[in-house]
Amino acid sequence: MRDALDERKAQDRFRELRTVPSGSNVLNFCSNDYLNLAGHASLKSAAIHYTEIYGTGSTASRLISGNHNWHEQLESRLAGFFGHETALLFNTGFQANISIIQALANRDTVLLYDRLNHSSLIQGARLSGAKLLRYNHCDAGHLKELMLRQDVQAAPRRIIVSESVFSMDGDRAPIDTLIQLAREYNSLLMIDEAHAIGITGSEGQGLAGRRDGIDIYLATFGKAAGGFGAFVCCSRMMRDYLINFASGFIYTTALPPAVTAAARAALELFPQLSAEREHVSNCSALLLAGLKKIGIDTLASDSHIIPVVTGDEKTTLALTEALRDQGIYVVAIRPPTVPDGKCRLRISLTAAHTRSDISRLITAIENWYHENQ
Ligand SMILES: Cc1ncc(COP(=O)(O)O)c(C=O)c1O
Repeated sequence: MRDALDERKAQDRFRELRTVPSGSNVLNFCSNDYLNLAGHASLKSAAIHYTEIYGTGSTASRLISGNHNWHEQLESRLAGFFGHETALLFNTGFQANISIIQALANRDTVLLYDRLNHSSLIQGARLSGAKLLRYNHCDAGHLKELMLRQDVQAAPRRIIVSESVFSMDGDRAPIDTLIQLAREYNSLLMIDEAHAIGITGSEGQGLAGRRDGIDIYLATFGKAAGGFGAFVCCSRMMRDYLINFASGFIYTTALPPAVTAAARAALELFPQLSAEREHVSNCSALLLAGLKKIGIDTLASDSHIIPVVTGDEKTTLALTEALRDQGIYVVAIRPPTVPDGKCRLRISLTAAHTRSDISRLITAIENWYHENQ
């Protein structure tokens, strides 16, 4: 352990827990609470209300005595909202991803993955023992090339897996083409909308909600929904299958009442939050333009997640510290979360940011580059 930790330190990749600074003068640019719902009165009162009626725990796993009305009602609302036959709750997105992939894939399966898919999807692939083929990021041409390989065509099951808005790059998967390729080559399609629900789509349905051709539609409540937990929307048969074979669903205590109440309240608010979505989108355009003007690489981001690519670990840590000294809270994202040489600040924008907050961030970054280059 010591050697491994020392190596991390030598590489400037050592991670430490920090408590989030508080105070009115601290500007947080790394929260995933994109719609500023974590402190919203409706979510808080729904959670308190459910706690008062039903208590603090669900008392068992869903298959024992932990399956309650509040779980089933939330699932039926999710299915309706995202346009699928059914839905199934999971305790976290990480747990959902590792256990769903493991349940659906085995040694005979070929998993076709976007190269930048989230760690939870990669862990699921490793645990499943399936053959993992990674296509270049958002490159449907490369995906098609891999799909046409004889061993891929001969496999009894193929599954294309992609995020929709990418968590570290803030760009978008070519959803239409993924649906088309999955259909054409008889492949299952799994889309992770963790960073898209609530904040994208005319009513917060994400980029892939209310679309035919997606077999496993997955998202979490821990980001724009301001809460905790995750769900999949799928067919009834898929739901039955996951209830029977997804160990991360079977062997775990069901989500507590307060958590499901907050998720339901967030879902009800999503369609009413167009002004917030537009505001975040305008802030994103402002920040992207400002950063580009000072020569910062923001990759292909066109969303509320904006990478400020800094390159190496030392530069990234120095910039992060300098911003923190000025009350701007950002975190350095380093390998193994992102590829070597692609260290960055991952800026996430929320409905709570103002245009002047964005200007303050741009000026601080510009000044730092000016003084340090
Ligand atoms: C794309 C993606 N999927 C899944 C997860 C995991 O979700 P959760 O935080 O609910 O475990 C995350 C990050 O948290 C993510 O970025």
